[in-house]
Amino acid sequence: MGTYRCLLLGCGPRAREHMVVYPGLRGMQMVACCDLDVARREDFQRTYGIPKAYDDFETALAEEQPDIVHVVTQPSRREWEADCAARAGVKAIIVEKPMAVTPSDLEGLVRVHERSGMEIIVNCQRRYYPQFRDGTIRDIAHNKLGNLYLIRASTKGNMMGMGPHLMDLLMLFLDEARPEAVWATAHTINETDYQATHRAPESLLAEYWFPGDVRVLLDCSPDAVGTPGEDSFWMHLHFDFLGTTGWMHLTQNRGYWYQAHGMAEPVRGASSWDLQGQAGQRDFTQAVADWLDGGPPHLNRFAVGRAVVEALFAAQKSALLGKRISLPTTFTDAEWQALRDRLGASA
Ligand SMILES: NC(=O)c1ccc[n+]([C@@H]2O[C@H](COP(=O)([O-])OP(=O)(O)OC[C@H]3O[C@@H](n4cnc5c(N)ncnc54)[C@H](O)[C@@H]3O)[C@@H](O)[C@H]2O)c1
Repeated sequence: MGTYRCLLLGCGPRAREHMVVYPGLRGMQMVACCDLDVARREDFQRTYGIPKAYDDFETALAEEQPDIVHVVTQPSRREWEADCAARAGVKAIIVEKPMAVTPSDLEGLVRVHERSGMEIIVNCQRRYYPQFRDGTIRDIAHNKLGNLYLIRASTKGNMMGMGPHLMDLLMLFLDEARPEAVWATAHTINETDYQATHRAPESLLAEYWFPGDVRVLLDCSPDAVGTPGEDSFWMHLHFDFLGTTGWMHLTQNRGYWYQAHGMAEPVRGASSWDLQGQAGQRDFTQAVADWLDGGPPHLNRFAVGRAVVEALFAAQKSALLGKRISLPTTFTDAEWQALRDRLGASA
């Protein structure tokens, strides 16, 4: 195995989580970083001892010829970012979630992926936490609770902020099953702060029909019922599972616990952003190089990330049309804009 040359685009706060794991990686070397903002770029380069820094992405690609690029920007130009990388011969890009906010940006990514063969991996790193990666949660959901029939999945972030993480884990728990139908309702466009870039209805409640008669209630809203005791919106990433003979609660940072008929006490296990987040990001990143070296397919490969966004788009389409939608379906920029207009977008 050789050493992959890596470039990082976007030196904001999230990029620091990408960099701190580098000392623990095999076969990956960060050769350069890139940001339009000179102060951010220079501080980032200095903090992590990165050899080169650029203000222009295409120049960085041309001069550094990286194998792997981390795209740690806000989700507004994903097609352009991927296309630049593909044209420079990059083998794989790690794209921060959300993979895309508009239907046309997702379609653009599909085109780049099909045309170039470059791997596009979405940074939903929680898949690499032990209890998710080793199938523990999936096993409980499918084998310990009787027939699983309902999952309530909730977050206090909007559906493009935290929704991608929620849907991504949901699909992992359901063995990559795709929803067959969705009915959703939404209210309010709020484009301040975080939501200015993660553009989606502020509140969206969706009911999904998954194969095997599994019903999912997906609640992305500041008003969603979250995890008791959490303060920040992004710490609310919560699942409740109901089966015919048991239940399970799973939180982002306060563990999970389940109980089924015949069990005197719930069984508890770990789930922790604080304790598992960094190792999860490390293993997620390592798995990119391992995959390029012929190892197992990455858990967050393009087809997986695409299915997540398509499921979220289908809910937006249902909210627009006010009826149940069968999947797969189409969703256009015009429909995306029509929903925004309906909910009171100001621009
Ligand atoms: N996976 C997770 O757990 C997780 C957690 C937090 C944030 N995120 C995601 O990470 C992404 C980035 O978040 P952030 O808070 O760091 O964003 P940010 O806006 O603070 O930083 C992005 C940086 O990219 C730079 N940039 C953008 N386009 C550029 C270009 N063409 N050339 C050079 N520089 C460019 C900007 O100047 C900025 O400094 C978001 O999509 C967010 O949803 C993911």
